Amino acid sequence: MTDSTPPTGLTAPKLRLGLRDGSDDGWGYAPAPESTDHVELRDRYGLFIAGEFTDAADGRTFETANPATEEKIADVALAGDADVDAAVAAARHAYDEVWSKLAPRERGKYVYRIARVLQERGRELAITESLDGGKPIRESRDVDIPLAAAHFFYYAGWADKLDYAFPGRGARPLGVAGQVIPWNFPLLMAAWKIAPAIAAGNTVVLKPAETTPLTALKLAEIIRDAGVPPGVVNIVTGAGETGAAVVQHEDVDKVAFTGSTEVGKLIRRALAGSGKHYTLELGGKAANLVFEDAAVDQAVEGIVNGIFFNQGHVCCAGSRLLVQESVAGEVISKLKDRMETLIVGDPLDKNTDIGAINSRAQLDKIEEYLEIGEAEGAEPFQTSCPVPERGYWCRPTLFLHASQSHRVVQEEIFGPVLAVQTFRTVDEGIAMANNTPYGLSGGVWSDKGAKAFRVTSRIRAGVLWANTYNKFDPTAPFGGYKESGIGREGGLAGLHAYLQPEAAA
Ligand code: NAI
Ligand code: MG
Repeated sequence: MTDSTPPTGLTAPKLRLGLRDGSDDGWGYAPAPESTDHVELRDRYGLFIAGEFTDAADGRTFETANPATEEKIADVALAGDADVDAAVAAARHAYDEVWSKLAPRERGKYVYRIARVLQERGRELAITESLDGGKPIRESRDVDIPLAAAHFFYYAGWADKLDYAFPGRGARPLGVAGQVIPWNFPLLMAAWKIAPAIAAGNTVVLKPAETTPLTALKLAEIIRDAGVPPGVVNIVTGAGETGAAVVQHEDVDKVAFTGSTEVGKLIRRALAGSGKHYTLELGGKAANLVFEDAAVDQAVEGIVNGIFFNQGHVCCAGSRLLVQESVAGEVISKLKDRMETLIVGDPLDKNTDIGAINSRAQLDKIEEYLEIGEAEGAEPFQTSCPVPERGYWCRPTLFLHASQSHRVVQEEIFGPVLAVQTFRTVDEGIAMANNTPYGLSGGVWSDKGAKAFRVTSRIRAGVLWANTYNKFDPTAPFGGYKESGIGREGGLAGLHAYLQPEAAA
């Protein structure tokens, strides 16, 4: 490649993996792949029910693949109704006979033990996460795995302090929790679900997403090796049908779901009148607002982090950039320059900024939105970086001059695609930010603290970041308004979601 001019449209040819612009000027990064030597992956994985790994009753399996190579990693048991029945029965038995009778202090010890083994096996888990789901190793190593451990540590601390969690009221567990999680943060979402549930004294049946089951199954090994009593945590793998069987099972007391708004609505409908408790953490289309008094370079980093972190497969992604007109030229020009430095490719390479799109289906969906955005009249900009020939890839993309009515502004794309709009006044910026069916998150960039507070308090979303983005902590509640879901996870609110408050004894 001698011509390194960025492509104007979205049809740049696929290039071979190499330096950023394909040329060899000697200033690119040499490959820095993480070694997979010590990671043991089996060819076949079973369901984790009552403390043991078993095949599905009818012997069915499905494949999980590496989205960066399109190669199969393993066959995984596909749980049917009989398996879900067995898992719920194991959870019920463990709840009635063991877990609800155990001294809370003892429960806490098991949860701490899981946290510590997660840390010990952190490297292996990070590599497995990147292999199975396509996210860059830097993210799985520095974000997903440490945060997963942090959630177990945090909720372990609450296990023997439930009487103090909600002063003036006692609290008892709900029973058996049925939990379904997505593929964008596989181990972290398993931790968000399992840690508060079992620390509060519930038992669980968890269903991981079909494209990324492996770290949840490694977590099952860790739970078994930590000596957690059989049946306290059960993991059933499969796709939507298995998930539906878990959440609709009549002996499940509490449902926790993270995934698409579409499926969230189905679940809420199915649960109506059932008396089950539920929390739903669904989609988002967050506005990231940049005001004219913002520190522009920091804001550009925040925009990049907001939309390109984890390939944009993030429910709270800052997927709408709203920039004040007076600084729009500067912000967008710097954003384009910064985007040109992003490296798309091998998730296991420590230089990689943007890994593989999680699945063929998700790539198809993103590519459809690229066509929709162009057809609707927004102006596309895509970086010129090379991407590997095999695997599922999407270059960082902007849609400039997008309008409020465009589907790329209204709908969750769940990929590295940012819709850009401008506003003139503070009120207009806030109105645009709120003009969405979603309400999960948002970001505000301003040098004025008072302005940041005023603006964040007027945006109807569960999580607002000021002069930063995508910061997570187990002590902080997370969740949405409107079509982004119901209920909160994380912090005390996340503990509350697994407890039935009662009058203090
Ligand atoms: P999905 O909502 O179908 O999948 C999430 C989880 O729910 C998976 O474990 C899946 O097996 C399970 N599931 C599917 N149908 C179910 C049902 N009827 N009952 C119970 N569980 C069920 O999401 P999918 O198809 O993987 O992705 C489609 C779109 O959804 C994405 O393009 C993205 O826009 C959005 N999405 C949003 C997420 C978020 O965290 N906001 C997470 C995953 C997807
Ligand atoms: Mg996979």
